[in-house]
Amino acid sequence: MKFLFVCLGNICRSPAAEGILRTMIQRIGIPNVDVDSAGTYGGHDGEKPDPRMLRAAAKRGYVLEHSAREIRTEDFEEFDKIFVMDDSNYDDVMRLAPDTQSQEKVERITKYCTRYKVDHVPDPYYNKREGFDEVLDILEDACEGIVENMYAIYKSSKKI
Ligand code: 4NP
Repeated sequence: MKFLFVCLGNICRSPAAEGILRTMIQRIGIPNVDVDSAGTYGGHDGEKPDPRMLRAAAKRGYVLEHSAREIRTEDFEEFDKIFVMDDSNYDDVMRLAPDTQSQEKVERITKYCTRYKVDHVPDPYYNKREGFDEVLDILEDACEGIVENMYAIYKSSKKI
């Protein structure tokens, strides 16, 4: 199973989601799951995650090693699910999707939150440090939901 997380710059929210889900999967010991992230905007290509996000994530035990990259057409073929952070990401990714089968792979990550009643993960880039902790709180909630629903997600992606 392959999951792609997408935000705007791929230096704050989506690399954090990638690191959180990867850590949860390793802790539980779920095999055969690949996780990656990408941005709809390629202006930060090749950069490590924002230092503010690196610090906030490290405090919770997440090591973020991703290098930013822009989403590409092949991603729609390669990944089973593409989780976006907000409506703007959703519109951009849906526009880039080459066909309806690809569009069906795209979901808002907040759909998987159970504790936080939110419809998007706020963009922390222009915020202070608290914004990064709020993002991590929401992403941890969503990733727990993704892990709990993994079999259902797998079935829906394969149309079993
Ligand atoms: P992200 O945050 O989408 O969570 O990675 C942002 C990173 C960079 C910019 C905006 C949001 N930017 O405008 O460069």
